[in-house]
Amino acid sequence: MKQFLDLEDIDNVDELIKNAITLKSNPFSHKELGKNKSIGLLFFNSSLRTRLSTQKAAQNLGMEVMILNLNSDGWALEFEDGSIMNAGTAEHIKEAAAVISQYVDIIALRAFPSLTDKKKDEEELIIKSFKEHASVPVVNMESATAHPLQALTDAITISEFKQKERPKVVLTWAPHPRALPHAVPNSFAKMMQMIDVDFVITHPEGYELNPKITGETPIIYDQEEALKDADFVYAKNWSSYNDYGQIKSTDESWMVTLDKIKAAKFMHCLPVRRNVIVADEVLDSEQSLVIEQANNRTYAAQAVLKDILEGK
Ligand code: CP
Repeated sequence: MKQFLDLEDIDNVDELIKNAITLKSNPFSHKELGKNKSIGLLFFNSSLRTRLSTQKAAQNLGMEVMILNLNSDGWALEFEDGSIMNAGTAEHIKEAAAVISQYVDIIALRAFPSLTDKKKDEEELIIKSFKEHASVPVVNMESATAHPLQALTDAITISEFKQKERPKVVLTWAPHPRALPHAVPNSFAKMMQMIDVDFVITHPEGYELNPKITGETPIIYDQEEALKDADFVYAKNWSSYNDYGQIKSTDESWMVTLDKIKAAKFMHCLPVRRNVIVADEVLDSEQSLVIEQANNRTYAAQAVLKDILEGK
Protein backbone atom coordinates (compact mmCIF):
# COMPACT_ATOMS: atom_id res chain seq x y z
CA MET A 1 0.00 0.00 0.00
CA LYS A 2 1.46 3.36 -1.02
CA GLN A 3 -1.14 5.53 0.73
CA PHE A 4 -4.52 5.20 2.45
CA LEU A 5 -6.62 8.08 1.22
CA ASP A 6 -9.75 6.01 0.69
CA LEU A 7 -11.02 2.45 0.47
CA GLU A 8 -9.91 2.21 -3.18
CA ASP A 9 -6.34 1.98 -1.84
CA ILE A 10 -7.11 -1.48 -0.45
CA ASP A 11 -6.02 -4.27 -2.84
CA ASN A 12 -7.68 -7.16 -1.02
CA VAL A 13 -10.13 -6.23 1.73
CA ASP A 14 -10.62 -9.78 3.07
CA GLU A 15 -6.85 -10.19 3.45
CA LEU A 16 -6.54 -6.79 5.20
CA ILE A 17 -9.32 -7.74 7.64
CA LYS A 18 -7.58 -11.04 8.36
CA ASN A 19 -4.26 -9.26 8.87
CA ALA A 20 -5.86 -6.86 11.35
CA ILE A 21 -7.37 -9.75 13.33
CA THR A 22 -3.98 -11.52 13.37
CA LEU A 23 -2.30 -8.31 14.62
CA LYS A 24 -4.96 -8.05 17.32
CA SER A 25 -3.95 -11.48 18.64
CA ASN A 26 -0.24 -10.54 18.59
CA PRO A 27 0.06 -6.72 18.48
CA PHE A 28 3.86 -6.58 18.92
CA SER A 29 4.71 -9.19 16.27
CA HIS A 30 6.10 -6.50 13.94
CA LYS A 31 7.70 -4.22 16.51
CA GLU A 32 10.95 -4.11 14.47
CA LEU A 33 9.18 -2.97 11.29
CA GLY A 34 8.77 0.62 12.44
CA LYS A 35 12.10 0.97 14.22
CA ASN A 36 13.66 4.38 13.43
CA LYS A 37 10.49 5.36 11.55
CA SER A 38 8.01 8.03 12.57
CA ILE A 39 4.47 9.11 11.82
CA GLY A 40 3.04 12.62 12.08
CA LEU A 41 -0.60 12.79 13.15
CA LEU A 42 -1.99 16.13 11.97
CA PHE A 43 -5.39 17.26 13.21
CA PHE A 44 -7.53 20.12 11.95
CA ASN A 45 -10.40 18.76 14.10
CA SER A 46 -11.12 17.08 17.44
CA SER A 47 -10.61 13.37 17.99
CA LEU A 48 -10.46 10.83 20.76
CA ARG A 49 -10.42 7.38 19.11
CA THR A 50 -8.59 8.20 15.89
CA ARG A 51 -5.84 10.06 17.67
CA LEU A 52 -5.18 7.50 20.41
CA SER A 53 -5.75 4.34 18.35
CA THR A 54 -3.53 5.49 15.48
CA GLN A 55 -0.85 6.49 17.98
CA LYS A 56 -1.14 3.08 19.65
CA ALA A 57 -1.07 1.28 16.27
CA ALA A 58 2.12 3.10 15.27
CA GLN A 59 3.74 2.40 18.65
CA ASN A 60 2.79 -1.30 18.39
CA LEU A 61 4.80 -1.31 15.14
CA GLY A 62 7.77 0.32 16.87
CA MET A 63 7.26 3.78 15.33
CA GLU A 64 7.79 7.17 16.96
CA VAL A 65 4.71 9.42 16.91
CA MET A 66 4.49 13.20 16.55
CA ILE A 67 1.14 14.95 16.93
CA LEU A 68 0.25 18.46 15.75
CA ASN A 69 -3.11 20.15 16.24
CA LEU A 70 -2.88 22.30 13.14
CA ASN A 71 -5.77 24.66 13.91
CA SER A 72 -4.60 25.64 17.37
CA ASP A 73 -0.82 25.09 17.25
CA GLY A 74 0.26 25.32 13.59
CA TRP A 75 0.47 28.29 11.23
CA ALA A 76 -2.75 28.95 9.30
CA LEU A 77 -2.26 27.12 6.01
CA GLU A 78 -2.94 28.40 2.50
CA PHE A 79 -4.12 25.85 -0.07
CA GLU A 80 -4.86 27.99 -3.12
CA ASP A 81 -2.22 27.94 -5.83
CA GLY A 82 -0.91 31.37 -6.76
CA SER A 83 -2.72 33.18 -3.96
CA ILE A 84 -1.36 36.49 -2.66
CA MET A 85 -0.97 35.65 1.01
CA ASN A 86 -1.61 39.08 2.49
CA ALA A 87 -4.56 38.05 4.68
CA GLY A 88 -5.13 35.30 7.28
CA THR A 89 -2.93 32.47 6.08
CA ALA A 90 0.76 32.37 7.04
CA GLU A 91 2.21 29.27 5.39
CA HIS A 92 1.53 27.56 2.06
CA ILE A 93 0.80 23.84 1.88
CA LYS A 94 3.70 23.54 -0.61
CA GLU A 95 6.25 24.38 2.09
CA ALA A 96 4.35 22.84 5.01
CA ALA A 97 3.88 19.39 3.39
CA ALA A 98 7.46 19.33 2.06
CA VAL A 99 8.90 20.28 5.45
CA ILE A 100 6.77 17.80 7.44
CA SER A 101 7.84 15.07 4.97
CA GLN A 102 11.45 15.61 6.11
CA TYR A 103 10.50 14.95 9.73
CA VAL A 104 8.26 11.88 9.40
CA ASP A 105 7.93 8.76 7.24
CA ILE A 106 4.11 8.80 7.11
CA ILE A 107 1.68 11.72 7.39
CA ALA A 108 -1.79 11.00 8.79
CA LEU A 109 -4.37 13.73 8.51
CA ARG A 110 -7.83 14.68 9.80
CA ALA A 111 -9.70 17.49 8.01
CA PHE A 112 -13.50 17.72 8.22
CA PRO A 113 -15.75 19.34 5.58
CA SER A 114 -17.14 22.87 5.74
CA LEU A 115 -20.68 21.50 5.10
CA THR A 116 -21.35 24.86 3.41
CA ASP A 117 -19.48 24.44 0.10
CA LYS A 118 -20.33 21.04 -1.39
CA LYS A 119 -18.09 21.44 -4.43
CA LYS A 120 -15.03 22.33 -2.37
CA ASP A 121 -15.72 19.60 0.19
CA GLU A 122 -16.03 17.00 -2.56
CA GLU A 123 -12.74 18.17 -4.08
CA GLU A 124 -11.05 17.05 -0.83
CA LEU A 125 -8.68 20.01 -1.16
CA ILE A 126 -6.81 19.53 2.12
CA ILE A 127 -5.98 15.84 1.93
CA LYS A 128 -5.31 16.00 -1.82
CA SER A 129 -2.98 18.97 -1.34
CA PHE A 130 -1.02 17.06 1.29
CA LYS A 131 -0.82 14.09 -1.07
CA GLU A 132 0.40 16.34 -3.89
CA HIS A 133 3.05 18.19 -1.94
CA ALA A 134 4.21 15.55 0.57
CA SER A 135 6.98 13.15 -0.38
CA VAL A 136 5.85 10.46 2.10
CA PRO A 137 2.66 8.33 2.18
CA VAL A 138 -0.51 10.04 3.42
CA VAL A 139 -3.18 8.34 5.55
CA ASN A 140 -6.75 9.61 5.86
CA MET A 141 -7.89 9.91 9.50
CA GLU A 142 -11.26 11.33 8.29
CA SER A 143 -11.54 13.79 5.48
CA ALA A 144 -14.42 15.82 4.08
CA THR A 145 -16.14 12.84 2.47
CA ALA A 146 -14.48 9.67 3.79
CA HIS A 147 -13.45 7.90 6.98
CA PRO A 148 -11.82 4.74 5.62
CA LEU A 149 -10.06 3.70 8.86
CA GLN A 150 -13.45 3.67 10.59
CA ALA A 151 -15.01 1.63 7.78
CA LEU A 152 -12.18 -0.91 7.90
CA THR A 153 -12.72 -1.13 11.67
CA ASP A 154 -16.43 -1.74 11.13
CA ALA A 155 -15.74 -4.54 8.63
CA ILE A 156 -13.31 -6.16 11.09
CA THR A 157 -15.96 -5.98 13.84
CA ILE A 158 -18.67 -7.50 11.64
CA SER A 159 -16.26 -10.24 10.59
CA GLU A 160 -15.55 -11.06 14.26
CA PHE A 161 -19.17 -11.06 15.45
CA LYS A 162 -21.14 -12.43 12.51
CA GLN A 163 -23.08 -15.64 13.19
CA LYS A 164 -23.84 -16.42 9.58
CA GLU A 165 -21.90 -16.29 6.32
CA ARG A 166 -23.89 -13.36 4.88
CA PRO A 167 -25.39 -11.25 7.70
CA LYS A 168 -27.95 -8.53 7.17
CA VAL A 169 -26.47 -5.12 7.97
CA VAL A 170 -28.65 -2.01 8.26
CA LEU A 171 -27.28 1.53 8.26
CA THR A 172 -29.90 3.70 9.93
CA TRP A 173 -29.95 7.49 10.13
CA ALA A 174 -30.69 8.74 13.66
CA PRO A 175 -31.47 12.25 14.93
CA HIS A 176 -28.85 14.72 16.16
CA PRO A 177 -29.07 18.41 17.09
CA ARG A 178 -26.07 19.45 14.95
CA ALA A 179 -25.28 19.16 11.24
CA LEU A 180 -22.85 16.26 10.84
CA PRO A 181 -20.64 15.21 7.88
CA HIS A 182 -21.20 12.31 5.47
CA ALA A 183 -17.75 10.76 5.83
CA VAL A 184 -18.72 7.88 8.14
CA PRO A 185 -21.91 6.76 6.33
CA ASN A 186 -20.18 7.20 2.95
CA SER A 187 -17.26 4.97 3.89
CA PHE A 188 -19.46 2.48 5.74
CA ALA A 189 -21.71 2.12 2.66
CA LYS A 190 -18.69 1.68 0.39
CA MET A 191 -17.18 -0.92 2.70
CA MET A 192 -20.44 -2.89 2.99
CA GLN A 193 -20.47 -3.06 -0.82
CA MET A 194 -16.94 -4.52 -0.71
CA ILE A 195 -17.66 -7.37 1.73
CA ASP A 196 -20.20 -10.18 1.62
CA VAL A 197 -23.22 -8.80 3.52
CA ASP A 198 -26.89 -8.12 2.79
CA PHE A 199 -26.81 -4.33 3.16
CA VAL A 200 -29.67 -1.81 3.31
CA ILE A 201 -29.85 1.86 4.26
CA THR A 202 -32.76 3.53 6.02
CA HIS A 203 -33.33 7.24 6.61
CA PRO A 204 -36.11 9.83 6.39
CA GLU A 205 -36.80 11.24 2.92
CA GLY A 206 -34.43 14.12 2.20
CA TYR A 207 -31.42 12.37 3.76
CA GLU A 208 -30.27 10.50 0.64
CA LEU A 209 -26.49 10.16 0.57
CA ASN A 210 -24.44 10.78 -2.58
CA PRO A 211 -26.04 8.38 -5.12
CA LYS A 212 -22.59 7.74 -6.62
CA ILE A 213 -21.73 6.14 -3.28
CA THR A 214 -24.96 4.35 -2.39
CA GLY A 215 -25.16 2.91 -5.93
CA GLU A 216 -27.41 -0.16 -6.03
CA THR A 217 -27.80 -0.41 -2.23
CA PRO A 218 -31.53 -0.59 -1.32
CA ILE A 219 -32.81 2.51 0.48
CA ILE A 220 -35.90 1.91 2.62
CA TYR A 221 -37.64 4.94 4.10
CA ASP A 222 -39.57 2.85 6.66
CA GLN A 223 -37.10 2.19 9.49
CA GLU A 224 -39.14 -0.69 10.98
CA GLU A 225 -39.26 -2.48 7.64
CA ALA A 226 -35.54 -1.94 7.03
CA LEU A 227 -34.59 -3.28 10.47
CA LYS A 228 -36.55 -6.52 10.02
CA ASP A 229 -34.27 -9.57 10.54
CA ALA A 230 -31.19 -7.36 10.90
CA ASP A 231 -28.06 -8.99 12.32
CA PHE A 232 -26.17 -5.70 12.70
CA VAL A 233 -27.68 -2.21 13.10
CA TYR A 234 -25.26 0.66 12.46
CA ALA A 235 -26.64 4.02 13.60
CA LYS A 236 -25.29 7.34 12.40
CA ASN A 237 -26.54 10.84 11.91
CA TRP A 238 -25.68 12.85 8.83
CA SER A 239 -26.90 16.15 7.47
CA SER A 240 -28.71 16.44 4.14
CA TYR A 241 -26.55 15.83 1.07
CA ASN A 242 -28.96 17.35 -1.47
CA ASP A 243 -29.71 20.44 0.67
CA TYR A 244 -26.07 20.40 1.55
CA GLY A 245 -25.31 20.50 5.28
CA GLN A 246 -28.90 21.25 6.31
CA ILE A 247 -30.78 19.60 9.19
CA LYS A 248 -34.06 18.46 7.62
CA SER A 249 -35.39 16.47 10.56
CA THR A 250 -34.72 15.81 14.22
CA ASP A 251 -37.53 13.25 14.39
CA GLU A 252 -37.02 11.48 17.73
CA SER A 253 -38.92 8.44 16.51
CA TRP A 254 -35.76 7.49 14.55
CA MET A 255 -33.75 6.97 17.77
CA VAL A 256 -32.53 3.36 18.04
CA THR A 257 -34.15 1.31 20.84
CA LEU A 258 -33.97 -2.35 21.86
CA ASP A 259 -37.55 -2.86 20.76
CA LYS A 260 -36.55 -1.81 17.22
CA ILE A 261 -33.36 -3.81 16.81
CA LYS A 262 -34.66 -7.00 18.47
CA ALA A 263 -31.65 -9.39 18.73
CA ALA A 264 -29.36 -7.48 16.34
CA LYS A 265 -25.91 -6.27 17.37
CA PHE A 266 -25.64 -2.49 17.65
CA MET A 267 -22.79 -0.50 16.12
CA HIS A 268 -21.79 3.17 16.13
CA CYS A 269 -18.43 4.81 15.39
CA LEU A 270 -18.60 7.03 18.54
CA PRO A 271 -18.78 9.62 19.94
CA VAL A 272 -22.51 9.05 20.39
CA ARG A 273 -25.21 11.16 22.03
CA ARG A 274 -27.08 8.90 24.42
CA ASN A 275 -30.88 9.00 24.26
CA VAL A 276 -30.71 11.08 21.07
CA ILE A 277 -29.10 8.71 18.55
CA VAL A 278 -29.59 5.56 20.64
CA ALA A 279 -31.25 4.70 23.95
CA ASP A 280 -29.22 3.85 27.06
CA GLU A 281 -30.84 0.39 27.08
CA VAL A 282 -29.07 -0.45 23.79
CA LEU A 283 -25.63 0.96 24.65
CA ASP A 284 -25.73 -0.68 28.08
CA SER A 285 -26.83 -4.06 26.71
CA GLU A 286 -24.80 -7.07 25.60
CA GLN A 287 -25.90 -6.27 22.05
CA SER A 288 -23.80 -3.13 21.85
CA LEU A 289 -20.46 -3.54 20.04
CA VAL A 290 -19.35 0.08 20.32
CA ILE A 291 -16.48 -0.60 22.74
CA GLU A 292 -15.23 -3.56 20.68
CA GLN A 293 -15.47 -1.36 17.58
CA ALA A 294 -13.37 1.36 19.20
CA ASN A 295 -10.79 -1.26 20.21
CA ASN A 296 -10.59 -2.43 16.61
CA ARG A 297 -9.62 1.07 15.49
CA THR A 298 -6.10 0.22 16.68
CA TYR A 299 -5.81 -2.95 14.59
CA ALA A 300 -7.37 -1.40 11.48
CA ALA A 301 -4.78 1.39 11.66
CA GLN A 302 -2.01 -1.10 12.47
CA ALA A 303 -2.84 -3.29 9.45
CA VAL A 304 -2.78 -0.23 7.18
CA LEU A 305 0.45 1.21 8.63
CA LYS A 306 2.10 -2.23 8.43
CA ASP A 307 1.24 -2.50 4.72
CA ILE A 308 2.56 1.01 4.08
CA LEU A 309 5.80 0.33 5.97
CA GLU A 310 6.26 -2.89 4.02
CA GLY A 311 5.56 -0.98 0.79
CA LYS A 312 2.93 -3.59 -0.14
N1 CP B 1 -14.92 7.40 15.42
C1 CP B 1 -14.00 8.38 15.45
O1 CP B 1 -13.40 8.74 14.42
O2 CP B 1 -13.79 8.89 16.69
P1 CP B 1 -12.98 10.24 17.01
O3 CP B 1 -13.70 11.35 16.27
O4 CP B 1 -13.03 10.38 18.50
O5 CP B 1 -11.60 10.08 16.49
